Amino acid sequence: MKNYKLLKISMRKVIKIMLATENLKEEHQVILRMIKVLIVASDKLEKGEDVPPEVFKKAVDFIRTFADRCHHGKEQDTLFPLMEERGILRHRGPIAVMLMEHEQGRQFVKGLAEALARYQSGDKTAKSAIVENARGYAELLDQHIYKEDNILYPMGDKVLSQSDNRELLEKFEKIEREIIGEGKHEYYLRMISELEKELGIEGGKTKHEHH
Ligand SMILES: [Fe+2]
Ligand SMILES: [Fe+2]
Repeated sequence: MKNYKLLKISMRKVIKIMLATENLKEEHQVILRMIKVLIVASDKLEKGEDVPPEVFKKAVDFIRTFADRCHHGKEQDTLFPLMEERGILRHRGPIAVMLMEHEQGRQFVKGLAEALARYQSGDKTAKSAIVENARGYAELLDQHIYKEDNILYPMGDKVLSQSDNRELLEKFEKIEREIIGEGKHEYYLRMISELEKELGIEGGKTKHEHH
């Protein structure tokens, strides 16, 4: 968490507060790297190149644990409800759209896991369903992350107080401990680096297309 918001508390004093949304933005960068892995793996598979099913299996595990249960868990169970308490409407506003997209993401991952199981049991026709679901997830999450980074999180930063931010960061730590567990964060980062290497993706970092 490198970025801080400067809060002017008096004419002279300026203090730094750590924003909860910065933690989530950092996770977005990790999720975007996995999205790049999925896109490259899908392109290769479509061209008839050999892609070990393990690549997609690892992606499914990462998405379900890191992206959905942990990251979306932080958003749905802590950030969004607090934003709502601070006056941002859930049902008609952007929060409703975000929740709907989390659900759509789950459907793509379910489709991907099912197609992968068919593929591994020898059904080669499952290949197109793998590509379709992997790309569907990648496109959905790419624009979802863009909207959160540029629209929803800035809305949150405006309405959340310093103690709100502190409270959220504490809850995030608890979610990480309970869902991901000790050492697992590093495990997933290593997994992504290995997949990038395996697929010839250079540099690791993916620049967000919209920027
Ligand atoms: Fe989200
Ligand atoms: Fe997010």
